[in-house]
Amino acid sequence: MKRTTFDLLLPIARGRGEPLRLQVIRELRAAVQAGRLAPGSPLPSTRALAADLGLSRGLVVEAYEQLVAEGYLSAQRGSATRVASSRPVPAPRRELAGRRPSTTRPRTPAPNELPAPRIDFRPGVPDVSLFPARAWARALRRAFGAGAPSALDYPDPAGVAPARHALAAYLDRSRATVADPEHVVLCTGFAQAARIVCEVLRARGVRRIAVEDPGHADQCADLRAAGLQLVPVPVDDRGIVVERLQRLDVGAVLVTPAHQYPTGALLEPARRAALLEWAARRRAIILEDDYDAEYRYDREPVGALQGLAPDRVVYIGSASKMLAPALRQGWLVVPADLVDDVRQAKHSADRGSPALEQLAFAAFLEAGELDRHLRRTRVIYRRRRDALTAALAKYLPGCAIHGVAAGLHLLVDLPRRCNEARVVALAAERDMRVYGAAAYFARPDAAPPALLLGYGGLRDGETDGIDRAVAELARIVRDVGAPRRSPAHPSRTPLASGRR
Ligand SMILES: Cc1ncc(COP(=O)(O)O)c(C=O)c1O
Repeated sequence: MKRTTFDLLLPIARGRGEPLRLQVIRELRAAVQAGRLAPGSPLPSTRALAADLGLSRGLVVEAYEQLVAEGYLSAQRGSATRVASSRPVPAPRRELAGRRPSTTRPRTPAPNELPAPRIDFRPGVPDVSLFPARAWARALRRAFGAGAPSALDYPDPAGVAPARHALAAYLDRSRATVADPEHVVLCTGFAQAARIVCEVLRARGVRRIAVEDPGHADQCADLRAAGLQLVPVPVDDRGIVVERLQRLDVGAVLVTPAHQYPTGALLEPARRAALLEWAARRRAIILEDDYDAEYRYDREPVGALQGLAPDRVVYIGSASKMLAPALRQGWLVVPADLVDDVRQAKHSADRGSPALEQLAFAAFLEAGELDRHLRRTRVIYRRRRDALTAALAKYLPGCAIHGVAAGLHLLVDLPRRCNEARVVALAAERDMRVYGAAAYFARPDAAPPALLLGYGGLRDGETDGIDRAVAELARIVRDVGAPRRSPAHPSRTPLASGRR
């Protein structure tokens, strides 16, 4: 059997008087204890490690045997020696005496390694267990088979041609864009796409950009990092208040017209027209974030703004909600006079996104797999949304719900003077994760109390779980109640009237 050789960095000091075997044992044990070698991970073969360290193989064999006996490693015939899946409780040992303290910092657990709460209403994420893995694997195989080896060279920084063409066709068909494949630029998610466009706008003299309030805090940070000053513009249940935008001196605006994030409002037709008219008159650029427009349940689809003004609108889309955030696929459709600068900025950023994944995405789109996946998942998400809205209506009947017609999350108002942070904290104590809306506002201290509840990740068959969780949430809201003292911010008003 062919054995893989795994690299392992072990500091061994010669001429210090400490036997080399003990050094190997000590360093390996420390690596396991510090989590630098994860449970179950394979070690190099004794032959390979001995060669790497310039030691005799017998010495490494002895070191491995010692650590197997101590329970740090496990060995099975015919396969690599591995780190044991459960770690022994470290006991003081003789050869540890006088040891200098380890300089290896404990590993910070990744978010998906933290213990999962009983129920997590995390907004902004799809259910990744629904990812069409087989279809994606087929598309990857097809991409590799068709393209290699030329596909392995540096790609066009804007994205490989088949992917730009397939995306333009998909967007024109499903989002009513007017996308010239030569104006499409593939990026590493919305995050990079927006950052690149903002850098280009900054280089062209734009200093201030309007953003929706409430809006997405991470995105605001990215825009600031691109050197732009942010000017918040309020949002109500008809989307961004365009009359307020019209009074500002800004060169661009970032909007979520199909499904405002986080209120879920749809930008009403009169405001869409006013926004486009403002951009034309001011020669301003609209950044259209079309992040989850594919998920709509009980309303007619609304096309992208880009289709109405391709010379004023930068369209930004992402696979993060439709498929999975881990793909890090995003795309831009850019006005003609910005294309060269955006392509150049993408080239400087990273020489282009990974080409094989782009080719796979093209194959996936052309085979109709995205449409199939969306048809299947829309039904599932709709069921989850129905379960959540029914439970909210039952247990929190006085609290208005916003943005339920589309997307993967909703927003629910809390009683006017209820302490949002306290509700979030008490829910966490009861093993339930809910998300306060204040963090999405330019002035969190003046935000009306509300919760953002994602239902994308709430598994089917958990309808009872959703019902129980909302019943508990309602108890918490009642317990927290409204303080007796007069409100700190008497001007606060609910986000909207609760219209869907
Ligand atoms: C409002 C909004 N836009 C866009 C995105 C997609 O971002 P990305 O493509 O960088 O994952 C998200 C993801 O959470 C989002 O919430």
